[in-house]
Amino acid sequence: MPSMHQTASLLLAIASVCLAQRSSNISICDKYTTALFHQNTGANQYKLLTYLVNTVVIGGYNNSHAAAPTVKVPGILAPGEFNGTKVNLLPYFDGGLNSTNRGGGAGVAVNFLDGGGAKPVMANKPANSDGSAQSKLLTHLYSYFGILLGCSQSGKDGFPAYDGEKSQYDVHKYMGLDAYRIGYFISQVGLAASSFGVSTEDVASVADALNGAFGVKCAPATAIDPGQGPQLQSICVADSCPQAPMGDCAPYGTSAGEPLVANATLALGEGRNGTASSEASASTAGKNGGVTGPKPTGTGTGTGTGTGTGTGKSKSSSSATVLDANMWSRVLVGAAILCIFSWCS
Ligand SMILES: *[C@@H]1O[C@H](CO)[C@@H](O)[C@H](O)[C@H]1NC(C)=O
Ligand SMILES: *[C@@H]1O[C@H](CO)[C@@H](O)[C@H](O)[C@H]1NC(C)=O
Ligand SMILES: *[C@@H]1O[C@H](CO)[C@@H](O)[C@H](O)[C@H]1NC(C)=O
Ligand SMILES: *[C@@H]1O[C@H](CO)[C@@H](O)[C@H](O)[C@H]1NC(C)=O
Ligand SMILES: *[C@@H]1O[C@H](CO)[C@@H](O)[C@H](O)[C@H]1NC(C)=O
Ligand SMILES: *[C@@H]1O[C@H](CO)[C@@H](O)[C@H](O)[C@H]1NC(C)=O
Repeated sequence: MPSMHQTASLLLAIASVCLAQRSSNISICDKYTTALFHQNTGANQYKLLTYLVNTVVIGGYNNSHAAAPTVKVPGILAPGEFNGTKVNLLPYFDGGLNSTNRGGGAGVAVNFLDGGGAKPVMANKPANSDGSAQSKLLTHLYSYFGILLGCSQSGKDGFPAYDGEKSQYDVHKYMGLDAYRIGYFISQVGLAASSFGVSTEDVASVADALNGAFGVKCAPATAIDPGQGPQLQSICVADSCPQAPMGDCAPYGTSAGEPLVANATLALGEGRNGTASSEASASTAGKNGGVTGPKPTGTGTGTGTGTGTGTGKSKSSSSATVLDANMWSRVLVGAAILCIFSWCS
């Protein structure tokens, strides 16, 4: 029997989720554009996305709009960790790894920091020069995240439409991403959003959406940009990735595994070396929970011997300091379901 006090707290919690639900008719993009820039124009929405993505990429920098400057954002280019596993995404961006899909049968190395690197980004720009890979990547991210965050003016009124690749799986297929790298990326999106004053609830719903769309393995084709129709979007391919509900791996084919090292100086120990691959991939598998080479289909796990209470996860249950979006999502989804079925009708 819950005590009076517990019941009261539960009701309060549900009521606040109900309020959040009601006012969430407006998209996260529109809501915070208005909060930060007052006028909810396409140009201001694009400005919000520029500040947000720039902060995700290089970490917190000096701009006058960080509503909560005390939130420290390392950014995706800084080494970090997720759930106790070390992550270093920089080599995917500076040409250290053959991880970019340029349409061929293998990944190639591309330096995405060729437009001046952090300096123009700190000046709230994508890059110094329009023709750079950096400019293309960042402007695509502004427009794509604009769709993800529900910007009402996306594609009009000073907000350029997304014109990048349709399938995020195709874009990321030579990166061999695992749940820790994707978890780290999403945690940086969450921290960056928090630094602009986005509420914990809204951060959780964004993280939930990103995890559901990209952080799973083998999700069915999904339309994220409605104009582009259903596409394969899962970018997580490693054993550490949760399987998507109703997932089907057949359309995804076999994973290319960890990317090859293009420049050992820049790779910083990430990726695998072309030759002596067994040794290189074994060590990588140990570190990242094993994405290497094509996956054997359907061996392992499954069909246990009953009895139960799992065998434990063995790895990295230490660091509780890392933002755990999953937990918040579950709490929020639970409350929202209660909200819909019992309290908010
Ligand atoms: C809420 O959204 C729906 C559908 O987008 C719209 O028809 C409705 O007018 C909105 N309500 C308010 C109060 O903005
Ligand atoms: C931060 O930006 C403001 C406004 O652009 C500027 O006045 C200030 O000097 C900057 N501070 C630093 C440390 O760069
Ligand atoms: C990496 O890709 C480049 C092209 O970007 C290619 O020249 C090089 O041989 C590749 N490296 C390996 C180890 O396959
Ligand atoms: C990270 O930790 C949370 C909470 O323990 C767990 O739900 C989640 O599955 C973990 N993610 C990874 C990739 O280990
Ligand atoms: C690897 O990258 C470093 C740092 O950018 C550079 O100095 C070096 O020339 C590169 N090596 C090769 C083989 O391209
Ligand atoms: C790849 O080889 C270089 C030396 O050529 C070495 O420094 C680096 O640690 C190796 N990387 C991996 C992941 O084994």
